[in-house]
Amino acid sequence: MLKLLDDDHMRAGRSDVLVDLGSGTGKLCMQAFLTYTNLTRVIGIELSASRFSLGEAACMRLAASSSGIGGYAVAKRVPGELIILEAPGVTARRQLELRKGDMWAMRAPEIEQADILVMHTDFTQASVPHFKRVLEDMRLGCRFVTYQDLRSCWRRSEPPFQQLDANLDETDTFLTSWSSSRGHHLFCYEKHVATRRGYRLHPDDIEDSKENMGRKKRADSDEQPPEAGDIMEDGELTDDSGSEGEDS
Ligand SMILES: C[S@@+](CC[C@H](N)C(=O)[O-])C[C@H]1O[C@@H](n2cnc3c(N)ncnc32)[C@H](O)[C@@H]1O
Repeated sequence: MLKLLDDDHMRAGRSDVLVDLGSGTGKLCMQAFLTYTNLTRVIGIELSASRFSLGEAACMRLAASSSGIGGYAVAKRVPGELIILEAPGVTARRQLELRKGDMWAMRAPEIEQADILVMHTDFTQASVPHFKRVLEDMRLGCRFVTYQDLRSCWRRSEPPFQQLDANLDETDTFLTSWSSSRGHHLFCYEKHVATRRGYRLHPDDIEDSKENMGRKKRADSDEQPPEAGDIMEDGELTDDSGSEGEDS
């Protein structure tokens, strides 16, 4: 996790706002907030009620154990729905916000604020139009990480993002819950071409991308990350251990 946030990847040390779409138990959000005190706002959004609650409980524990030390305090809480933790910052108070909700419902103004977008969820075919909307709303220079190589969605037009130099080689791996010793190659990008609201992929690319997502899922049977499609009716993933097994 710390490798992902370093200067060669998500560059958290030189960023203000990190948004984690599919934040699970809030582990990455919490670690980023505690490690990078330059981050003024960290937002995590998670669909699973039980995973959100684990993150909520961790925030409560941090506030309870640090009163007077570090100054972490719960600024707002709607149990089971939302928690905002505050800490003193250089100029203003910093905020860690965990929410229960659908990441694809996140509004454009919040996506636009993000310097870093974490998308640690495997995309299904149905996710492609949602991802396209998020990409539209991202600011120029926003760095983001995904499980899949999303450039495969662009065949007839150029993607408005590029892979980070440090991430070009497949040996650039990150420890994950399903690959805790070897590590898994995640894809780290920077949006480098501005897109106007209403930016559209070439219609053929949209069809191709849907096809590619399906093909990738069938071809890679080993070491598959969890995906949105694995969510069961109650919003849980089949493995709900909450353990990410990362280098935290
Ligand atoms: C592998 S976990 C990543 C956790 C976190 N980003 C981290 O690194 O610590 C992926 C999470 O995405 C969540 N998820 C999947 N689809 C979602 C959606 N549409 N909205 C919000 N969360 C979603 C899953 O419930 C799961 O907890």
